[in-house]
Amino acid sequence: MKGIIFDLDGVIVSTDKLHYAAWKKMADDESIYFDEQINNRLRGVSRMASLEIILEKANKTYTDEEKLALAEKKNNLYRELLKELTPADRLPGVTKTLDELKARGFKLAIGSSSKNTPQILKYIGFDGFFDAVSDGNNITHSKPDPEVFLKASEMLGLSPEDCYIVEDSTAGIEAGLAGGFSTIGIGDAALYERTLYKIRSFDEILGIVK
Ligand code: BG6
Ligand code: MG
Repeated sequence: MKGIIFDLDGVIVSTDKLHYAAWKKMADDESIYFDEQINNRLRGVSRMASLEIILEKANKTYTDEEKLALAEKKNNLYRELLKELTPADRLPGVTKTLDELKARGFKLAIGSSSKNTPQILKYIGFDGFFDAVSDGNNITHSKPDPEVFLKASEMLGLSPEDCYIVEDSTAGIEAGLAGGFSTIGIGDAALYERTLYKIRSFDEILGIVK
């Protein structure tokens, strides 16, 4: 194995909690029921697809224009919350583990559905750290489609068989499997039966990759 492609939200940084807070505010304002369990279904899924999942609980139907306005409202709230991020918001074990993986010669990439990836990487001090960044700005299909990971491996100059993907979402694990990658799951994805390597803490990656 030569490369490792990391999801961002909920793997490298705790932005999954900020996504939840922003969607929760939007849902409350619209009197739509929304909880952490529904939020787990939004992991790895694009902004508009996430909104569609939340609207399953709505009592009215929304026009396409209204949907765009709701998604924009959520994104504006989310971007306000992002401004508070610092390197201290990297998840436990991330800094040490990534440094060690680099030292072992692995090429490291980000594979995230988020269009906010560049700003987030800046806020947490990872601007320029990864060998490649593939995100919501350069894909047309969101996870579980493998596009974002395939683009990342292409940017690294590696084939999927030579790369692991690290994910917290079942959609991301499915994307990894569809692309022919070895899958490592943390959090929600560690509870998923189709995940190849299930980990409880980020530093366990060091014992898996070779
Ligand atoms: C993923 C998150 O990383 O990015 C999803 O897990 C989110 O919950 C998606 O919907 C899109 O993010 P953004 O920042 O482009 O709205
Ligand atoms: Mg994630």
